[in-house]
Amino acid sequence: MLQIENIKMKNPVVLAPMAGVCNPAFRLIAKEFGSGLVCAEMISDKAILHKNEKSLRMLYVDEREKPLSLQIFGGDKDSLLGAAQVVDEQTNADIIDINMGCPVPKVTKCDAGARWLLDPDKIYEMVAVVARNVQKPVTVKMRTGWDDDHVYVLENAQAVEAAGGKAVSVHGRTRYQMYEGLADWDLLRQVKETVNIPVIGNGDVNTPQDAKRMLDTTGVDGVMIGRAALGNPWMLYRTVKYLEDGTLPDEPTPKEKIDVCMLHMDRLIDLKGEKVAVQEMRKHASWYLKGLRGSGKVRGEINQLERRDDVANTMYRFVEGLNEEAAVGS
Ligand SMILES: Cc1cc2nc3c(=O)[nH]c(=O)nc-3n(C[C@H](O)[C@H](O)[C@H](O)COP(=O)(O)O)c2cc1C
Repeated sequence: MLQIENIKMKNPVVLAPMAGVCNPAFRLIAKEFGSGLVCAEMISDKAILHKNEKSLRMLYVDEREKPLSLQIFGGDKDSLLGAAQVVDEQTNADIIDINMGCPVPKVTKCDAGARWLLDPDKIYEMVAVVARNVQKPVTVKMRTGWDDDHVYVLENAQAVEAAGGKAVSVHGRTRYQMYEGLADWDLLRQVKETVNIPVIGNGDVNTPQDAKRMLDTTGVDGVMIGRAALGNPWMLYRTVKYLEDGTLPDEPTPKEKIDVCMLHMDRLIDLKGEKVAVQEMRKHASWYLKGLRGSGKVRGEINQLERRDDVANTMYRFVEGLNEEAAVGS
């Protein structure tokens, strides 16, 4: 069972941190669909310390989402520690996660994110100073390396453990790969054999069967799911069930998809107001609609809408159209 210090997850299924996605609206849905642990989107350490209003709002955690891991990123010891202390003292997150995987140049240029993967000594130093000075468990999410010539995941995971980190999540790709190519699960297995803290495996888990295969072949303690859950929290629920008893619940009907999409939108409206939420929901709506016949046109329509009720009417009309087609076809 996945356990990080004294925090016991009810199953090993973890929602990956995803910027622009993992806010309380989606995280709560992921939790309701069974995830053992949900991760929040990354927040800049400096933005927290500068009291940037948007970043401070990102520290909000609903009781119902717990256990929850809140992720910060940064490149400089003082600001990383300062931000970690804010998360430690002023939020009800359970875990403080440090991002060591973000590949985007804007982040790596500031010596943050995946940049650390080149320097196990820096990892040790940074994690140690944070872990020593906060109460909540500190964990790290990393990639396997910077590029094929710099794959230091074993040394880096050992550095996390030696520094007092309580778990490590590993995305089986290098920074150079971004999101392309295959995730290297054998390296996940090697990390698990190398350290004694819990290891959460990540990358290319697209089906519940993939999740089981990752757990079985690598021995990792948890399985982290990112893109496969976008517009598809059923992926989390189906994985939990499959791991529990080998059964695969049915895929959702189009109506069920729209119902959850609207629940997601209504929660986002509560958080951010109608204008921002409707705009942010455009990408989510397109993920919820993915795979439904003829959804391209309705996605285009939704991108023009600005009111919640108009989005709801458009989506439900689309589903009624699908049902009518099915009735004619049968
Ligand atoms: C839209 C998006 C945003 C992401 N944001 C973050 C982030 O804030 N922090 C982080 O550690 N990883 C982030 N990631 C990486 C994911 O957590 C995960 O490692 C990656 O998507 C691989 O897992 P998957 O194959 O299950 O998608 C992001 C990925 C995506 C697709």
